[in-house]
Amino acid sequence: MSVLVTGGAGYIGSHTCVELLNAGYDIVVLDNFSNSKPEVLDNIRKITNKNFKFYKADLLDYETTEKVFKENEIDEVIHFAGSKAVGESTEKPVDYYHNNITGTIKLLQLMKKYNCFRLVFSSSATVYGIPKEPAISEDFDLKPENPYGRTKLYIEMMLKDLCASDKRYAVSLLRYFNPIGAHSSALLGDDPNGIPNNLMPYISRVAANVLDILPVYGNDYATHDGTGIRDYIHVVDLSIGHLAALKQLRTTVGVQIYNLGTGTGYSVLDVVNAFEKANNIKISYKFMPRRGGDIDEYFSNPKKANTELLWKAEKSITDMCADSWNFTKNRYK
Ligand code: WQD
Repeated sequence: MSVLVTGGAGYIGSHTCVELLNAGYDIVVLDNFSNSKPEVLDNIRKITNKNFKFYKADLLDYETTEKVFKENEIDEVIHFAGSKAVGESTEKPVDYYHNNITGTIKLLQLMKKYNCFRLVFSSSATVYGIPKEPAISEDFDLKPENPYGRTKLYIEMMLKDLCASDKRYAVSLLRYFNPIGAHSSALLGDDPNGIPNNLMPYISRVAANVLDILPVYGNDYATHDGTGIRDYIHVVDLSIGHLAALKQLRTTVGVQIYNLGTGTGYSVLDVVNAFEKANNIKISYKFMPRRGGDIDEYFSNPKKANTELLWKAEKSITDMCADSWNFTKNRYK
């Protein structure tokens, strides 16, 4: 009985692999290293003192991926593999639709062929688009503003149709808000290639003098300090949420949908201040024009996950900033 983790060498995938191994699961990891590095796998083994099988494979390569199912008894899948940069998706929409949707279709074909009917899917709060009010619940309208968010929504719809067509399936759609932070070992963290798109890795690299100044995109939003507000959740809390969803799938059928967030919003300047306070370090920043696609404010209403998954984000913004800095110091030492 193994759990297949697609994209298991990635940021959220690798942290989830640690939690799965520590909880006693047998896992098989698949990754194509398009946005991750092989040393992450050794770090997962170092942290957990556990081993697992790894397959370097791209979900678009049906034959190579099929080896995973032929050579292992895969009973459940946590599906992280996919492209995830909003800006890039607007430049390369067809690549995003092909990689994310076709890749998922091939995965589902193999799951059916090998009688694997439980799936936890890495969805995103970007499926909501601009919410009618900042605190988002799962029943809010779904109107993604970019190709990346649309790939997540279309995959959600495909999974709903699959579950409606075949009662053997149990699927959990997890809509992430803003994952940040790193494992306490400082061996795993958010380590994007090139210039980071996201806020926390950018702040951390300014702190490490890898980048010289933080661009703050927009200070004229309708928020307490004019900068954008988001729901930042520690990546370890998010990973533990996947284990709660996986456990629930063993006693349910059909589709479950959950927002994984803290329910608290922080502005860009709140995060900068929290980082400076947590790490006793100064972050230089400059206000820049708004970034295309950004909105003023959104955060989760996590009550549904809290009550139905018996899961709640525990870590503070201080924990997120301290862990992120510890990882970056270790990464650039
Ligand atoms: C957060 C805030 C920026 C960088 C992204 C993905 C989304 C999801 C979560 C996958 C905004 C501001 C940022 C910088 C800044 N990932 N910012 N300077 O855009 O809310 O969501 O991560 O599902 O798909 O888009 O996160 O970290 O990019 O931005 O001022 O250098 O920080 O304007 O207000 P975002 P982010």
